[in-house]
Amino acid sequence: MYIPRRSVILALLSTLASALRFPSYGTLRTTQSNGVLNVVINNTYSTINLFDKHVQADLGNLIEELQADNSDVRVVVFSSGNEEFFIGHIDVEYFLPGYESPLPLYDYAYPDMLFPVALLWNITQLPQATIAIIEGRTRGIGNEFLMSLDMRFASTAPSVLLNQFETSFGVNPGAGGAMYLTHNIGRARTLEYVLSAADVDGRTAAALGWVNKAFDSRVELHEYVCSLARRIALWSIDGIRATKVGINAASRPQREVLVRDAQNVISGLIGTKEVQDYFKAFVSATRNQEVSPLELDYGREVVGFVEGLRRS
Ligand SMILES: *[C@@H]1O[C@H](CO)[C@@H](O)[C@H](O)[C@H]1NC(C)=O
Ligand SMILES: *[C@@H]1O[C@H](CO)[C@@H](O)[C@H](O)[C@H]1NC(C)=O
Repeated sequence: MYIPRRSVILALLSTLASALRFPSYGTLRTTQSNGVLNVVINNTYSTINLFDKHVQADLGNLIEELQADNSDVRVVVFSSGNEEFFIGHIDVEYFLPGYESPLPLYDYAYPDMLFPVALLWNITQLPQATIAIIEGRTRGIGNEFLMSLDMRFASTAPSVLLNQFETSFGVNPGAGGAMYLTHNIGRARTLEYVLSAADVDGRTAAALGWVNKAFDSRVELHEYVCSLARRIALWSIDGIRATKVGINAASRPQREVLVRDAQNVISGLIGTKEVQDYFKAFVSATRNQEVSPLELDYGREVVGFVEGLRRS
C-alpha cells in the first residue's frame, strides 16, 4: 500500500484550502489599492456581457473571498469591460430545456434559493461597501445585480439603458429587483417602468433615484467614484459592515418574502408554453443573445417585436 509522505499530504491540504469553490472563467479582472477592489466585468464568452454561468461562477468565487474578509478590502467597485453592455441580462438558455451548468441549481447555504438569487442576496450583505460604475446597458438580472449593490453611478452616454424588463417576457423580476427598486424610486414609478419594460437612460435614472448620480463626463464619473471609494475605505470594515446591517434591515425585502413573492413566482411561470415560446423567439431574434437591434434597443424594439409575434 502506498502511504504518502507527510509533506505530500500537507501540500494536498493546502491546495484544497485555496481551491476555488466554483470553476473559474476569468470574466472578472480585479485590481486592488488602498482598500478598494476594482472589479471589471468582461464576459469574453458573450458579446453583450451576459450574466451567464461563467460570470455567476466567477462572482460566486469573488463573493466567497469577500465574505471571508481576510483581505484588506473595504470597498468594491464594479464596472464593465464591455463599452455597450454593463451586464446584458441573464443567459435565457437558463430557462430553456437542455441547459447545462457546473453550478448547483439551488444554493448550498440557502437551499430554497436558486443559485443566482442567492448570489445577489449574498452581495447585499457583504461586509464591504459596494458601488457600480455604469457605462453600458443593463437589463433584467443585470439591473437586479445593480439593485443588490449599495450605490450606483452612471454615465449619461446613450449606451446607458437600465430596464427591469421581465414583465415583457411574461414573467416577473425573480431575484427581487423590483422590490428593491420600490425603495429607491417609489411604488408608482416602479410600476410604471417595470410594467412597461421601458429603457431608462442615465440622466432619467439619476432624476428618479434609480442611480445615485449621473455624469456627462467619463473622467468625472470615474474620479467621483474613486474618491468616494477611497474615503469610505478609510474606515474600518467593522463600521461599514455594522452600518449596512441596519440599512439592510430598513430597505431590503425579507429573505422569505423575496423567495416567495419574487423567485417562486417566476419559477411557476417559466415552464408555460407562452413563456417558453417568447424565450425561443427572443433567442432567435437576437441570434442567441448577440449584439442586435433587440439587445441594443430593447425598450423601443420590443413593441414591434411583440406585435410581430402576435400577428404570426
Ligand atoms: C474585454 O475582453 C475583450 C475580448 O477578450 C478584449 O478585447 C477587451 O480588451 C477586454 N476589455 C477590457 C476592458 O478588459
Ligand atoms: C452565499 O453565502 C453563503 C454563506 O453565507 C455561502 O455558503 C453560499 O455559498 C453563498 N452562495 C453564493 C451563490 O454566493
